[in-house]
Amino acid sequence: MEFRRIGGLPPYVFAAINGAKAAARSAGRDVVDFGFGNPDLPSPDIAVAKLAEAAQNPRNHRYSASRGIPHLRLAIASRYKRLFDVDLDPDTEVVTTIGAKEGLSHLMWVLIDRGDTAIVPSPSYPIHIYAPLFAGGQIVTVPMHDPSSNSAETPGDSFFEGLLDAWQRAWPKPRVIVCSFPHNPTTACVDLAFMERLVGFALEHEVIVVHDFAYADLGFDGYRPPSILQVPRAKECCVELYTLTKSFSMAGWRVGFMVGNAEIVAALTKLKSYLDYGTFQPIQIAAIVAMNEAVDYPQQLNTIYQSRRDTLIEGLDRIGWHVEKPQGSMFVWAPIPEPYRDMGSLEFSTFLVDAGDVATSPGIGFGDGGDSHVRFSLIENELRTHQAVRQLKRALTKLN
Ligand SMILES: Cc1ncc(COP(=O)(O)O)c(C=O)c1O
Repeated sequence: MEFRRIGGLPPYVFAAINGAKAAARSAGRDVVDFGFGNPDLPSPDIAVAKLAEAAQNPRNHRYSASRGIPHLRLAIASRYKRLFDVDLDPDTEVVTTIGAKEGLSHLMWVLIDRGDTAIVPSPSYPIHIYAPLFAGGQIVTVPMHDPSSNSAETPGDSFFEGLLDAWQRAWPKPRVIVCSFPHNPTTACVDLAFMERLVGFALEHEVIVVHDFAYADLGFDGYRPPSILQVPRAKECCVELYTLTKSFSMAGWRVGFMVGNAEIVAALTKLKSYLDYGTFQPIQIAAIVAMNEAVDYPQQLNTIYQSRRDTLIEGLDRIGWHVEKPQGSMFVWAPIPEPYRDMGSLEFSTFLVDAGDVATSPGIGFGDGGDSHVRFSLIENELRTHQAVRQLKRALTKLN
């Protein structure tokens, strides 16, 4: 059978690692799994209790509002005010999405058509690359460097250099720039001055910026990731995706938002009114409670991720695998150690499963420019992380 749109998709690189993991587990081996960025920490109790209560009410079993119920949109507006001092009109500048991934994917349907161009970082969270392609467009990539590999330049400066180059190369002139900081998988982080520069560029060149802010609440050692909407005039050309997935460890609930430019919000809202009826209403109600009553939960999660980061990086350092500490995100983007570099990321991460019972994600799975790294997700607790380091020490015999 012949299908449309999926034909050009490369084989799913992560499937190879999943296969190696499954084989090891069926042979009775205990694989420590840093592969998939699927949070292991529980959602806030208060949200779980509210979900159970709201699910008892038959009125909540009906179709909900595709754009999100008013109190949910109000709750995200209040959160933006509290966190970033950004004012959002919940009626015109907020739309609820079924997670950031759904929001970003469908957003591209209203921004990109056949022949249009989007600028996208690479390596990247894969949907950043594929959503413009699914919408019929084409992409021009901005290389994302390992923030520790280019010490003379900040990640913001090196992104900007790549952006200027991509802008020159792209034809037709891009309609959209996709970006996401703290960045998955490279962990690159930026400051507000970078966001100001980006908004200035977008206003000057009349291009829309889509900022995926999935790691909005995951900044370490006092670093607070900036929202692009903190920049004056950002609402003229920018939208931002915010999600409860990582901030509140509510990955399976599928609650996210797109906020910012009212025209773009209206366009996505219109499209979504044809596509879906919104997230199950008890989940929306529980999400309100999470944001309004578990206000500090993201900070508690942040502390846990930071401590896991330290355990992993210090452990790797002890066995001769030197990786810089990331400032944000829930990942460690680790350069493949020199004696193993020729293997490439797929072979190296398969080797780590086979020889060390440790699963990581091969960098090549995130696109061009990722093959010299593997990504650890900080989803294993400290005990398991110590265990993983011991196993890696046994496997990586060429390290000194
Ligand atoms: C950059 C980025 N955006 C979005 C998501 C997914 O968010 P959601 O669960 O809200 O769809 C992830 C998850 O790993 C991510 O890394």
